[in-house]
Amino acid sequence: MATPVLDKADAAGEPEPGFADSPYITVTMRVRRFNSEVSAEAVWEDFQLEIDPKERVLDALHKIKWDIDGTLTFRRSCAHGICGSDAMRINGKNRLACKTLIKDINPEKPITVEPIKGLTVLKDLVVDMDPFFQAYRDVMPFLITKDTNEPTRERFQTAEDRERFDDTTKCILCAACTSSCPVFWNDGQYFGPAAIVNAHRFIFDSRDEAGEQRLEILNDRDGVWRCRTTFNCTDACPRGIEVTKAIQEVKRALITRRF
Ligand code: SF4
Ligand code: F3S
Ligand code: FES
Repeated sequence: MATPVLDKADAAGEPEPGFADSPYITVTMRVRRFNSEVSAEAVWEDFQLEIDPKERVLDALHKIKWDIDGTLTFRRSCAHGICGSDAMRINGKNRLACKTLIKDINPEKPITVEPIKGLTVLKDLVVDMDPFFQAYRDVMPFLITKDTNEPTRERFQTAEDRERFDDTTKCILCAACTSSCPVFWNDGQYFGPAAIVNAHRFIFDSRDEAGEQRLEILNDRDGVWRCRTTFNCTDACPRGIEVTKAIQEVKRALITRRF
């Protein structure tokens, strides 16, 4: 099927045959703004936009920044769901702005956009990701082997062994899971689901030899045992990772010491 063009009229000013007269609708983007140089309080600000509902929330934010208010601050890079930099709360749910179509989030009402929770807001939609990445670094998210010699060939692994951690390899470190977790909101000390997902990725890798060390790190008072199995993390993950299941597997490995 042909893709409808966005321009409403042909050169003679008539709509092209077979195409909708105008795909554009008016939406209100209600954005949480914060600038410590202006005020200690965050405020909501409304922007009216003409937009094709098949565009994404990221496109709407670009329109605001490029056409209305250049001071609007947010992170994004790939614009295709890969880099994980544009997680934000859209209509109260953690999502990637580049993967959320306007038509899918009821554009008849104001669309709210605010920073993810549990991390300090630096400006507008940008939060301080340092605590999040520190927890990630703490679980040693890299392959560790006891043999310190350079390998002379690849480390073999069966398809079944590879399957054990396939789901957790998909993480893009967007923080949608950790910042949707009520335990993390409480004090920010909990390692959080994303760090556990990335520990899981190596604990269950048959080539890795530091699983015990990672389990001990997660046995900490701020580790896996703080998870209350609320599933917010699984619901929030834009990669469809079964986050809560991965956490349960790490808990079980801590009890059985089998992984
Ligand atoms: Fe994002 Fe999912 Fe990774 Fe959490 S597990 S950081 S939600 S990709
Ligand atoms: Fe939090 Fe997910 Fe556990 S939301 S409580 S880490 S199941
Ligand atoms: Fe990269 Fe959305 S901009 S994931």
